[in-house]
Amino acid sequence: MQFEFIKIEKQVVKGVSLIQLNRPKELNALCLELMEELVHAFKLLDQDEETRCIVLTGNERAFAAGADIKQMAGRTAIDMLKIDQFSKWDSIKKTKTPVIAAVSGFALGGGCELAMLCDMIVASESAQFGQPEIKIGVMPGAGGTQRLTRAVGKALAMEMVLTGKFITAREAWNAGLINRVVPVEIYLQEALKLATQVASMSPIASQLAKESVLKAFDSPLEEGLQFERKNFYMLFATEDQKEGMAAFVEKRNPDFKGK
Ligand code: HXC
Repeated sequence: MQFEFIKIEKQVVKGVSLIQLNRPKELNALCLELMEELVHAFKLLDQDEETRCIVLTGNERAFAAGADIKQMAGRTAIDMLKIDQFSKWDSIKKTKTPVIAAVSGFALGGGCELAMLCDMIVASESAQFGQPEIKIGVMPGAGGTQRLTRAVGKALAMEMVLTGKFITAREAWNAGLINRVVPVEIYLQEALKLATQVASMSPIASQLAKESVLKAFDSPLEEGLQFERKNFYMLFATEDQKEGMAAFVEKRNPDFKGK
């Protein structure tokens, strides 16, 4: 498939593939066509055995400034219902491979929600996170009220959602929204470094571990614990478990095959 609004680079470093949002003039506004391409890219990389971690990035000025307001402006509720854009978000959410967002500049509205859909966020010092939909007469629709609140708590989430206030990378880090804040020159490098670490683990264990952590967001504790336990048991059916534990005993580095 030819991509117009994103770029993909497989194996940008060992085990890691990169998706770059590529509508720089529009600050990577997430038009429907871009989202459609993202869905394909994530499916493609999720099926690629060599890709054990995915990094999603924009550019220095913007990760993404939100859904495309110009595309949405004239739409009716029925148009929105029929277009069903959130099915694309649901599809991206199903990505099994761990995903790291490398964020610089604006991560607003759908852009902030897209970063939060990723499993970890590495940000540059210039990153700004916000849910400014209220300023254009709407509200977050792709998880902003839910994921942001779970990440930073009610007080800050409510303020951001009700006033549209942006927070800096440092504030986002203090609030627990992101994993790292680094100088702008190295944010992508840092994200790739973190991704390389993730990619060096057993991919089956990574996928089940990711799935289990995400389960904590939508299940009662006991159900989550049972889910975790079954995934834990299941890993004893893998060659990687034998290899990982043998390597520990033999005092050498493991060589995980994803089997
Ligand atoms: C369409 C956008 C856009 C967007 C920026 N642009 N954000 N186009 N949709 N979300 C376009 C501008 O129109 C402009 O193009 C160009 O990108 C550069 O933007 P400027 O505004 O000139 O830049 P600047 O003055 O630096 O301001 C940057 C900004 C501002 C603060 C990020 O652009 C802004 O407030 N953008 C909207 C942010 C927002 O409200 N996001 C939430 C969207 S709703 P032209 O050609 O005009 O010069 C949403 C709902 C999600 O995300 C629901 C789930 C999908």
